[in-house]
Amino acid sequence: MIREAISSDKRHILEFCQNTFSWGDYIEDVWDYWISEGILLVYVKNNPIGISHAVFLKDHVWIEGIRIDPDFRRQGIASKLVQQIETMALKNEIHASLMLIDSQNTPSLRMSENLGYKKYQTWNFYFLLPQKTNSPELSFGSDLKENEFPHYVKSWRWISLDKEITSHLNAKKCVIRSGTVNKSTAILEDSEHFKKTLIVTLFAESESNTTNLLSFLQNYGCEKNYHRIQILTKKRLPKIQNLDFKLSFHLMQKLLS
Ligand SMILES: CC(C)(COP(=O)(O)OP(=O)(O)OC[C@H]1O[C@@H](n2cnc3c(N)ncnc32)[C@H](O)[C@@H]1OP(=O)(O)O)[C@@H](O)C(=O)NCCC(=O)NCCS
Repeated sequence: MIREAISSDKRHILEFCQNTFSWGDYIEDVWDYWISEGILLVYVKNNPIGISHAVFLKDHVWIEGIRIDPDFRRQGIASKLVQQIETMALKNEIHASLMLIDSQNTPSLRMSENLGYKKYQTWNFYFLLPQKTNSPELSFGSDLKENEFPHYVKSWRWISLDKEITSHLNAKKCVIRSGTVNKSTAILEDSEHFKKTLIVTLFAESESNTTNLLSFLQNYGCEKNYHRIQILTKKRLPKIQNLDFKLSFHLMQKLLS
């Protein structure tokens, strides 16, 4: 049976969502937030043995946090949860679905491909350590154009840069550009789930502009007392000190009908 999660499910879910990946898991940190957002589905067989969360955005449904108890995998449970979300999305007139999958996560990639998802884009995840640098003078602007880029990353969700979101970001003055030609652009936002964490969507162009932008970000992160800077970008970044490549992810897309 699939139903909306209730608070008492947390205990059962966390029993198998502590060490999902080599680095652990983040479900514990987001559970309360997700349950308050809604569309946190659980699959129940005596106890809850699977979850998935979804957010209905304007252009697509964002599916995240698919977790199945290791004792119950390969029984079609993740597929059923995803299909249930797709049905709900269609009822809400949403005709596309997106999810982000580690490019090394073969089970999840196969599961999504079996359901008709295709690799839409590949993104790289970097960790940048805040530190004092002789950074160039760059200033926050408000000149982001509607659909200049298809998406930006808000707390690990890919959000379409439509007119409303673009003007919201411009009003917040969280856009930085480096260079005059082949400008590199960064959109900065605080993580909604993790303290002192800056999430940067980086559209890298020339190597020198990108290097300047990274140096600015390190310095900015240090001045603002961030503990970590997470960078999501489609390109491979130039090598600079204390910039670590972590993983690459496939953004998987399915058109719903
Ligand atoms: C990935 C995961 C969600 C799949 O859940 P699941 O309920 O076992 O998936 P399903 O039974 O619906 O699998 C559907 C298809 O996906 C593919 N698949 C699933 N697991 C696989 C595996 N370990 N190896 C290869 N293919 C796999 C198969 O094609 C499978 O169909 P089949 O069993 O008929 O061959 C589960 O392994 C899991 O919780 N992993 C850890 C968390 C995770 O990676 N979550 C996704 C983050 S994006």
